[in-house]
Amino acid sequence: MAAVRWTIEPLPRPPGAEVRGLDASCLGENDVQALKEAMADHGLLILRDQKLTPADLIALSQPFGALEPPTREQFTLPEEPDIFVISNVVENGRPIGSANDDMAWHTDQIYFDRPTAYTFLYGIETPTEGANTLFCETYELYDELDAETREGYANIDIEYSHNKLFAGRLTPEQMLRHPDVVHPLVRTHPVNGRKSLYFGRRKLSRPLGMPEDEGLRFLDRLNERATRPERVYKHQWRPRDLLMWDNRGLLHSATPYDQAKHRRIVHRTSVIGEKPY
Ligand SMILES: [Fe+2]
Repeated sequence: MAAVRWTIEPLPRPPGAEVRGLDASCLGENDVQALKEAMADHGLLILRDQKLTPADLIALSQPFGALEPPTREQFTLPEEPDIFVISNVVENGRPIGSANDDMAWHTDQIYFDRPTAYTFLYGIETPTEGANTLFCETYELYDELDAETREGYANIDIEYSHNKLFAGRLTPEQMLRHPDVVHPLVRTHPVNGRKSLYFGRRKLSRPLGMPEDEGLRFLDRLNERATRPERVYKHQWRPRDLLMWDNRGLLHSATPYDQAKHRRIVHRTSVIGEKPY
């Protein structure tokens, strides 16, 4: 197999690394494997100055696994329906994408039986102020636990509800498609075996085996620990940035921007992962 020629420059602290010297529109098999390993180690990869058509974004995502069709079809790209459009742009009276990006800390599509493993986000038009993406990892949270707490956490499962999260924004048909799911709090990464804490926000999550209010406070405490400012990387977007990240052990959040002043168009693809264990 040919050697990988690009380089990985880790950010000053995890998560995240910048990939240099790689054109994402022509990935070889070796590149894909190396990028999967790099995502397992660094969580987030940043590739600047990429020139990608929608077809390129689909083609580069596909070797990482089966693509997850977006659950809200009204915001997909007509010519590539596996691309979800995040945008505040309105064309011919129709919003071309979802204007409200997710501004709470989360890991993508935790409400699926097999949640998203990899997310690809490509910036086409990006505001010069705001509209950042924040990242933090949850491997450290697990590493910091004492043995007794680890043992206790190993028995905690959490139920997640897609329909609770999108209540009021789904058609009855969309609601039927996604029954609630249960995942363990302690998750093992399938590539490198690292353990992380895997949890969602309070709006859609219900830790099992404890009273509801206690469960929600438990989630709040985990969130608070995970997202302390010193643990957070803030990505300030430039046009043609491609971010790819591994949702296992990684949380992210959007930040607001002045929608009256700036246009934003970002394309997303999602690759289906394994059932968490
Ligand atoms: Fe997300």
